[in-house]
Amino acid sequence: MTELVLATKNEGKVREFREILRDLPVEIVSLIDFPDFPEIIEDGRTFEENALKKARALAIFTKDVAIADDSGLVVDALSGSPGVFSARYSGEGATDLKNNLKLLNDLKDVHLKDRGAAFKCAIAVVAPDGFEEVVTGECRGTIGFEMRGNEGFGYDPLFIPNGFDKTFAELGMEVKNRISHRFRAITAVNPVLINQVFRLKAEG
Ligand code: IMP
Repeated sequence: MTELVLATKNEGKVREFREILRDLPVEIVSLIDFPDFPEIIEDGRTFEENALKKARALAIFTKDVAIADDSGLVVDALSGSPGVFSARYSGEGATDLKNNLKLLNDLKDVHLKDRGAAFKCAIAVVAPDGFEEVVTGECRGTIGFEMRGNEGFGYDPLFIPNGFDKTFAELGMEVKNRISHRFRAITAVNPVLINQVFRLKAEG
């Protein structure tokens, strides 16, 4: 069976990729199987750049087809911040709680109608022969006025997806995983991977 290497050690992400890509005749393995893979500095200006950088490095390292993702929150009233800095928005020693509190503070004078935001996810596929493709997924919503809910991670307690009146952290994984930016990007990457698998098989 063809192997695809996913540039993450996050078990939750690996499970999500395996679940959504379950019909592909591939085995998805992760960085847990490549402990010597060096840390890649995510210094791109966009999610797409960061995903490509990680997937390129991993494809070279493993000599196999590599997939990498990068994601974050883009807030309209903050001209797209925190964007690629989502994980470290509150600076050195950033935590999910500190990031959420900073976001609430940055938006303290912003009215409900101007609190639009989107979670974005880019996924890059890179093959050792030079094939490269990047797909994206987006989930739009509103930033709430207080943290609510206990599920999920990151900005989930503040993000109310369009069409709902609860945050991702209140809605829980089952609802989130049907509408999330990551779900949409993984769904979009499915046909790209199918083409890759057939191409690799045809080339023997
Ligand atoms: P990464 O793509 O896993 O490196 O995510 C970067 C950062 O974006 C995370 O640390 C979170 O702050 C934020 N983020 C990405 N996806 C989500 C999500 O689904 N919910 C909440 N926060 C997220």
